[in-house]
Amino acid sequence: MKQIYLDYNSTTPLDERVLEAMLPYLKSKFGNASSLHSFGREAKVGLEEAREKIAALLGAEPSEIYFTSGGTESDNLALKGIALNRQSKRNHIITSAIEHHAILESAKHLEKNGYRVDYLGVDKIGLINPAFLRNKIDDQTSIVSIMQANNEVGTIQDIKALAAIAHERGALFHTDAVQAVGKIKVNVKDLDVDLLSLSAHKFYGPKGVGTMFLRKGIKISPLSHGGHHEKGRRAGTENVAGVVGLAAALELAEKNLEAEHERLSDLADFFIEKIQSDIEDVFLNGPRDNSSRVPSTVNLSFQAVEGESIILSLDMKGVGVASGSACTSGSLEASHVLTAMAIPPELAQGSIRFSMGRFTTKEDLEYTISILPEIIDRLRAMSPLYNKDK
Ligand SMILES: Cc1ncc(COP(=O)(O)O)c(C=O)c1O
Repeated sequence: MKQIYLDYNSTTPLDERVLEAMLPYLKSKFGNASSLHSFGREAKVGLEEAREKIAALLGAEPSEIYFTSGGTESDNLALKGIALNRQSKRNHIITSAIEHHAILESAKHLEKNGYRVDYLGVDKIGLINPAFLRNKIDDQTSIVSIMQANNEVGTIQDIKALAAIAHERGALFHTDAVQAVGKIKVNVKDLDVDLLSLSAHKFYGPKGVGTMFLRKGIKISPLSHGGHHEKGRRAGTENVAGVVGLAAALELAEKNLEAEHERLSDLADFFIEKIQSDIEDVFLNGPRDNSSRVPSTVNLSFQAVEGESIILSLDMKGVGVASGSACTSGSLEASHVLTAMAIPPELAQGSIRFSMGRFTTKEDLEYTISILPEIIDRLRAMSPLYNKDK
């Protein structure tokens, strides 16, 4: 059976060239980067060279790059670390209703511990109106955290404008750029952010390694204690091979960024247009314009069908996709992102996220489109919600 992977937003396969770069640090250069002997020094060189590469690619200084175990940890450290540090002067936090759970759950945790939190709403394509931020921000706001690109629908926010509003009121600005890095240009100077999170496994690097950018001079409280690693901000023996892989993966992605963006935009146009012409009542969630959306993310709602049923049917034919709904206690709960975009529940429950990547071909999409109409027809025939007389 054919095997077609269309879930690149979930994770990506490790690029062979990244593996090659990592292997020496898993074998001969295995030292602990904190050790003083030559084994340790060799590992330390790998770690610091990676830090320099990553900093240069993001427009940062090497001293502003901190290594973590991935996007979730970077998000937790950014939000809680800043909130804890500025607690006595400012105890208000602003984020959005469409963030990844790493931010939303961190914000809820802070709320339980006495912080005031505002969750900004979005419009029907998932965009935050900067005026919403202006309305909510005050002199007590410690940090504003808004994601650069959404993982479910791909909507790209105007981070520069939002960061400027935060700075006018003395607040810090963090962006979760996990779904943006390696797909669109991300430069911390251009965006003028104070903190940024990224994760290697979203751009063909290894799982379990990420970066938090923290602008020089900004104080943060560490969340893990027990060592002087990462200048005391993140205790724990560094994952040297992982970090070397992250740097190699970022370098590869950046080298081909524009050409790949164009290729994936063309594939997305083809996919959306063909599905909408072959199947009735299919709606794109998020902006149609490829420059306002990470083009490789195509979230479609199939009216009157459950997303989970589509996933299982596609999986039986070898196609891996994700849905925007989660099955909780027997009922389908629509995604918080689609709900915030005011997508009606019956459409949100029938949403599928197709996310393409480096190894996706037009043939993969043609195959997917060739099997979809029959799946949707069959599921709609069983659906009490679908109007069969149309
Ligand atoms: C926007 C966003 N933030 C954070 C994360 C978490 O990253 P990680 O899997 O590295 O913990 C993800 C992963 O899906 C994501 O899409």
